[in-house]
Amino acid sequence: MKVTFYGHATVQIEVAGKTLLFDPFISPNDLAKDIDINSIKADYILISHGHADHVADALAIAQNNEATIVSNYEIVSWFGSKHDYSKGHPMNHGGSWNFDFGKVKYVNAVHSSVLPDGSYGGNPGGFVIETAEGNFYYAGDTALTMDMKLIPLFTKLNFALLPIGDNFTMGVDEAVIAADFIECDQIVGMHYDTFGFIKIDHEKAIAAFAAKGKTLLLPKIGETIEL
Ligand code: NI
Ligand code: MN
Repeated sequence: MKVTFYGHATVQIEVAGKTLLFDPFISPNDLAKDIDINSIKADYILISHGHADHVADALAIAQNNEATIVSNYEIVSWFGSKHDYSKGHPMNHGGSWNFDFGKVKYVNAVHSSVLPDGSYGGNPGGFVIETAEGNFYYAGDTALTMDMKLIPLFTKLNFALLPIGDNFTMGVDEAVIAADFIECDQIVGMHYDTFGFIKIDHEKAIAAFAAKGKTLLLPKIGETIEL
């Protein structure tokens, strides 16, 4: 699987001939100013929750690509009603759906969710995705939660994308515990460095995971890694 990091919590994953884009927030992010959203491909845009730092470029990229927006029912409905964009697939917690690239389950996140215009954004979530090329977990914005222990009961993960920036989500120390809960040794960090509140020490973070026998990957913005 090709995994490209576009800054903050924006990640593109190419799998099974399809391109998935998670939580697009690029044009408002100074750190990602070299990325042109018009160059980004997506067949599906998966949105974890309604906050602006997760949905800012979703509509533009969805329209450019005729992409399908996958999220909770409230967020998919909002894109449909506010923007005359109805190509969405609504889900809710605990539910799974077989797409043409693999099976997606929408799982719990402990966070909040409101859309940029104040509309109700449903409850926040994450995605567990099973494909013929491997399985992964995109946690979205979340605290460390006991619900993460459920994930290994239904999926053996190859890698996971976890927030590590603290303040708005769990920080590095809790993310190390989360990696244990989900029984996964290969972690891609996200939701760090974008704002002053979430700046982290990269070396310390990598060392904290290494001390527990785990790998923390921190790709540069625009960098693609193979997982
Ligand atoms: Ni958030
Ligand atoms: Mn966020």
